[in-house]
Amino acid sequence: MTLTGPFTQLLPLTDLPLRGKLSDDQLKIIPNAGILTEEGKIIAVGNFKELRKETSGKGVEVHEIAGDTVCLPGFTDCHTHLLFAGSRAMDYAARNAGKTYQEIGAAGGGIKDTMGKTRAASDDELANSLKTRLDRHLGNGVTTIEVKSGYGLSVDQELRMLRIIKTTGDAHAADVVPTCLAAHVIPPEIGDERAWLQAILENIVPVVEAEQLAGRFDIFVEGGAFTPEHSRSFLERLKNQGFNITVHGDQFTTGGSQLAIDVGALSVDHLEASGEKEIAALAQSDVIPVALPGASIGLGCAFTPARRLLDAGASLAIASDWNPGSAPMGDLLTQAAILGTFEKLTTAEILAGLTFRAAAALGLGDRGRLSSGQLADFIAFPTTDYREILYQQGQLKPNRVWKNGLSIM
Ligand code: NIG
Ligand code: FE
Repeated sequence: MTLTGPFTQLLPLTDLPLRGKLSDDQLKIIPNAGILTEEGKIIAVGNFKELRKETSGKGVEVHEIAGDTVCLPGFTDCHTHLLFAGSRAMDYAARNAGKTYQEIGAAGGGIKDTMGKTRAASDDELANSLKTRLDRHLGNGVTTIEVKSGYGLSVDQELRMLRIIKTTGDAHAADVVPTCLAAHVIPPEIGDERAWLQAILENIVPVVEAEQLAGRFDIFVEGGAFTPEHSRSFLERLKNQGFNITVHGDQFTTGGSQLAIDVGALSVDHLEASGEKEIAALAQSDVIPVALPGASIGLGCAFTPARRLLDAGASLAIASDWNPGSAPMGDLLTQAAILGTFEKLTTAEILAGLTFRAAAALGLGDRGRLSSGQLADFIAFPTTDYREILYQQGQLKPNRVWKNGLSIM
């Protein structure tokens, strides 16, 4: 057993509900706290001195933390596209000069441009750049990271991407959750929506199952990508085969969120275009809405209506969407802090959205809170007041990160 502390403040985030609005009074802050861990799990959380007394003589290793620190559960980023090659700086400049994301995509740029660069990159180049991005995220306190395929866009290239995600993820200290996003856009060589969805079902899904490459499938439901009509039977088939479903929905036009509800998806992500009807339907469902402020900042578009979703009683996770096109920044904490100021989210709502609510969007209930039985994934920020973390808008980074009870920095 290991006892780590004392932390000036520790926010366990236990007892906070999975859905609905949260006030900061609901944060039960533990001063001078310690965490007792064993074999990667939390055994107890409480006052450091008391835990030390209770466990003395029981062979507990004590790891004393110097200086003032605020301890939180490790963050989960439940939506990223971290496996890609090349830059889309020219898209960014073109958008700021007046072109839209959809115009760039329709002209053969955008996702298809990254597809070309990703296909041309070697396995080693892709694995190394993925590892660099995972390292950066973990150093910033993101201990669980979802990673999508989606820039291969042929049977062989999508499978190559998923194998690289699996191998690189298995070797990484962070937990990597792979998702198959072969249904990102219609591949230029195929050009037909139904033919590509059929090819995914016939030629990608059996290999994903046999090699256990991913337990999740995603689809981009949008004009220029996939229609709700054709997406529906595709997702129903996958759901019946036991896969978890997530949807890129309501980014520019609506339709995706209702489809996600109908097929029993775990989450629907984006939602910048969601209106009253979509918000009410999401609040009545078990689907977790995921805000992607990095895409709003990257595209200069509206934010996900996070405040209205929470007020209606929905859950809300916050993810980075880190990708070379719409969300190149990749700094989850900065993006969450900015979303908070524009959407008027409480500290409790933002921290929940980065931790246990984000884990729930991946179907994971074993992380995101600091309580007995949860994974010992926790992070410390060098400050005396938890409110400094969002106040500094991402400039205050964790100075310590633990994954499965082990100090990794
Ligand atoms: O979530 N919207 C679709 N997919 C990504 C963007 C991918 C890209 O532009 O390369 C997103 O924003
Ligand atoms: Fe995305």
